[in-house]
Amino acid sequence: MSGIQLDLRFSDRRLIGIGGLDFTGWREEYPELLTALTGPPPGYSELPDQKLSKLCDWADALKGRYDDLLLLGIGGSGLGGRMLNCAFVEPACKKPGHPRLHVVDNVDPRRLSHLLKELDPRRTLVNVVTKSGSTAETMASFAVVREWLRAGIGEGYGERIVATTDPDLGDLRALATAEGYTIFEIPPPVGGRFSVLSPVGLVPAVLTGVNVRELLAGARAMRTATLNPSWRKNPSLALALALHHHHQAGRRIVSIMPYADGLRDFAFWFAQLWAESLGKRRGSSEVYGPTPQAALGATDQHSQLQLYVDGPKDKVIWLIEVRDLGDEVKIPPQPGDYSSLDYLGGHGLGELLLVELKGTVLTLIKAKTPSLVLSLPRLDERELGSLIYLCQASASFAGKLAGVNAYDQPGVEAGKKTTYAYLGREGYAERLAEDEGLLDETDSSLVSEA
Ligand code: PA5
Repeated sequence: MSGIQLDLRFSDRRLIGIGGLDFTGWREEYPELLTALTGPPPGYSELPDQKLSKLCDWADALKGRYDDLLLLGIGGSGLGGRMLNCAFVEPACKKPGHPRLHVVDNVDPRRLSHLLKELDPRRTLVNVVTKSGSTAETMASFAVVREWLRAGIGEGYGERIVATTDPDLGDLRALATAEGYTIFEIPPPVGGRFSVLSPVGLVPAVLTGVNVRELLAGARAMRTATLNPSWRKNPSLALALALHHHHQAGRRIVSIMPYADGLRDFAFWFAQLWAESLGKRRGSSEVYGPTPQAALGATDQHSQLQLYVDGPKDKVIWLIEVRDLGDEVKIPPQPGDYSSLDYLGGHGLGELLLVELKGTVLTLIKAKTPSLVLSLPRLDERELGSLIYLCQASASFAGKLAGVNAYDQPGVEAGKKTTYAYLGREGYAERLAEDEGLLDETDSSLVSEA
């Protein structure tokens, strides 16, 4: 049993008016939707059962050896590791004996060259993560980092490289074997955005001191709940149903707004999961696709909230509450007599954050903007493992409801191919000439210059 709760009351038609969620039309039981999680099973559903001893023993043996861990990976190969780190490792700190994580998921030269100047190759472990073993951004950064390690260490630099990749696909696997890197395999049926609970997310997590056993225990607990045909007992199904219904009612933007700094990167991870799984063509002429938008409470109450309240009614706001935010910090009374500040003294910062969430719900209700509130008892590995599984299963249910394949990503693949073509990778150039022909039809006067 997980302590996670999803509250749909604030989307109820009685509060929001026309266009709110009408629960009367909802059947209690949705047995047919469960086939999204059974035959053929999406690979991620087996990840909570994986054996962890080898991974944990390996990480234990490395304790104290490295100050920094450089993760190279993009999309599903980078966002999961970043999310886990954000949840459990304080920014700018590291856990004693564990390295500090740096995620390089772009090829902006400024960031990488700055990092490589700062880091000591003798005290840095490199984790290159790519399922296909060929993604341009990751493999380009890796070529630079591998050279930096080789120059800084000489013979034996391969010991400082961990490759997380498909058992067969792509050239990274062959390179890793030839150069003696440590290799972790991504199970072939597990796609990038569903891979955080595979070695893709677990390797950086265990190295930085995250309790990966608890993560999987949480995921297992939620997996049991996802098999319940009643949405009242299955928050994953309830989330999919609610967001699908909102989408069909014209609210195609899902703003995800956790009220906890540790979930800031969770919002970006979810945005990828939702966009890449559900933004799809349906048949030859139809399209489907909720647009996820990442926000943070209470920070974005001073930014996005204005749009949520007075802007177009094309959104549903998914708020996330962490009931116990941990070490409470008391607000001391202000010195002197400042009547506008007196009300703060004696309260706690966590108390203030939770009150702000409540206030946002009310503000949204008054504005007739629907919201959902997911509540986590606390932010620990078990609860985050549950939340991750909840979201992944929800993407599967939503794909089924929408009639789209949640597991492919033809648009992302098209982008990769164009990059290959521009850089002259064999076999891709012809396609580029055809695509560039489209630019001949553009109007060259449509440019503004200063
Ligand atoms: O979810 C996905 O499939 C993508 O976002 C991939 O993770 C991303 O394109 C990176 O691919 P790869 O792991 O092959 O480098």
